[in-house]
Amino acid sequence: MIPLGFPMTFTSAEPLASTERLILRGFMPEDFEAYSAYRLLPSIYRFLYRDPPSAEALREHFDASLDSHFSEDGGSLRWAVLRREDGALLGDVSLKLTSKAALQAEIGYIFNPAYAGKGYATEAVRTVIDLGFSTFGFHRIFARLDAQNTASIGVIERLGLRREAHLIENDRFNGVWGDEYIYAVLSREWADRAGA
Ligand SMILES: CC(C)(COP(=O)(O)OP(=O)(O)OC[C@H]1O[C@@H](n2cnc3c(N)ncnc32)[C@H](O)[C@@H]1OP(=O)(O)O)[C@@H](O)C(=O)NCCC(=O)NCCS
Repeated sequence: MIPLGFPMTFTSAEPLASTERLILRGFMPEDFEAYSAYRLLPSIYRFLYRDPPSAEALREHFDASLDSHFSEDGGSLRWAVLRREDGALLGDVSLKLTSKAALQAEIGYIFNPAYAGKGYATEAVRTVIDLGFSTFGFHRIFARLDAQNTASIGVIERLGLRREAHLIENDRFNGVWGDEYIYAVLSREWADRAGA
């Protein structure tokens, strides 16, 4: 099966998806200020095994990602998540194509802590998983989470993904070993749940 979205270039400012409270679309150059407001905060990198980037590195990465596409393994697409009522940039959700041959994608998400605790991340991640299966035709979508990242575990378990693995001390940051969980859902499982 050739997924519908391959190869895909995504730079459009058109809403790609919307929910009752959210609009998901590609990033635009004018989003940078609101994007850097949370992407430079040390707190959001706590469980990501890296330090916050410099402002210059963030800008470079942001500019490069405006033209992101999905045609080969390693490529990723990222959506800006906006609040419908006022257009505030709440965070971003990405899908990384990890295997085109096996139709596998990894989901990632980072939200501005100013908007935490309202279910926005859960709603946006649910929407991107929907897109991943219905628009791009993935077979399996997975997430890798630090085992101590309780907020992220909350998002992924609220959506019913299956914990498939607990990797013990598989990474190290600043001299400290960390565990990771892998969660996943198959296309048919997601469809069954939606139909239930
Ligand atoms: C992971 C992250 C996005 C989670 O943020 P969050 O605010 O906890 O997630 P949500 O926006 O889905 O909000 C969920 C909370 O809102 C509550 N909530 C309120 N209204 C809700 C609704 N309508 N639907 C769902 N949850 C709702 C939930 O009960 C939950 O509260 P709790 O944490 O007290 O249980 C955020 O912590 C983050 O960006 N962290 C830094 C980056 C990171 O670690 N990313 C993950 C990498 S794997």
